[in-house]
Amino acid sequence: MYARIISTGKYLPKKILTNSELEKIVDTSDEWILSRTGIESRHIAADDEFTSHLAEKAANIALKTAGLNSNDIDLVVVGTCTPDRMFPNVACLIQERMGIKGPAFSLEAACSGFVYALTVADQFICAGKAKRALVIGAETMSRLIDWTDRETCVLFGDGAGAVILEASEEPGLIFSDLGADGQHRKLLYTDTGLSNMRSSVDGDLKMKGNEVFKVAVRTLEQMVDKVLKDNQLEQGDIDWLVPHQANLRIISATAKRLGLPMERVVVTVNKHGNTSAASIPMALDTAVKDGRIKNGDLILLEAFGGGFTWGSCLLKF
Ligand code: COA
Repeated sequence: MYARIISTGKYLPKKILTNSELEKIVDTSDEWILSRTGIESRHIAADDEFTSHLAEKAANIALKTAGLNSNDIDLVVVGTCTPDRMFPNVACLIQERMGIKGPAFSLEAACSGFVYALTVADQFICAGKAKRALVIGAETMSRLIDWTDRETCVLFGDGAGAVILEASEEPGLIFSDLGADGQHRKLLYTDTGLSNMRSSVDGDLKMKGNEVFKVAVRTLEQMVDKVLKDNQLEQGDIDWLVPHQANLRIISATAKRLGLPMERVVVTVNKHGNTSAASIPMALDTAVKDGRIKNGDLILLEAFGGGFTWGSCLLKF
């Protein structure tokens, strides 16, 4: 038994924040942001728009694209580090609004949240515990941002992406590999929390960007080496790389290691910045809907994020 992605959807909030608009908020420039990250603009959720609202919109598109209705889904898994509230979890909020039955939970693995969520949903399906899962990555990163910190506020944005994962006799998800290492926690973190009784309305994401960059590139290179080796693949064998969209330079380094030209890498970071767990399903949806990714293509999803966490999923689309 396999689990196959049968449809995708994405949603980006309407408000767009460009690099030139950011120049008016902090001491930065379009040229600096573009050359260091590849980001041109990001989307920002409205004040009354929360992670579950973005997630629900992406989920409804994925459902409609598949020609299914809510009764056809029996599991909801959401990757997010920006939940509306501690509970009900984001998946339960969506489940109630969409009228879905079955287990529904969120998991928190920062930018690797979608790859973690997809891997968990795959396990449910392969174990016969679910037939069709709604798997979502959704974030309102703008709420965690300190808008006076030019080193971080230019990087992040809001959005949501969703896929429907279905039990199948044909290969779908064929390999996944998750990892984590808490020892680097001081390179990328927030202080905001409930258990530690700290909350912030202004956001408090902190990052040593330079050091995160180095660990990210090194870890992703090791990860793609393992994907190739464990699946007896050669460099260049993968049809499409759909990476976490944090920084164009990190994406290019991973593509190089895979022996892939940039024409076979889905890049959307320019349009929405780093949307954490939402970025992979949004990029996947973009390339599926514009016709680049076709049935039967071999696709690698890979992510790295706060924790640190990381993960890869190799799948036949
Ligand atoms: N605008 C203008 N200048 C800025 C700036 C901004 N928004 N942010 C930082 N700078 C300045 C720094 O203050 C520094 O100035 P100095 O040389 O006078 O001290 C200079 O630019 C270089 O800073 P540095 O941090 O070395 O730049 P960098 O080339 O490493 O690029 C990042 C910074 C954040 C773009 C890059 O490190 C990065 O992308 N890291 C990974 C981040 C990431 O992906 N995190 C999420 C993981 S999922």
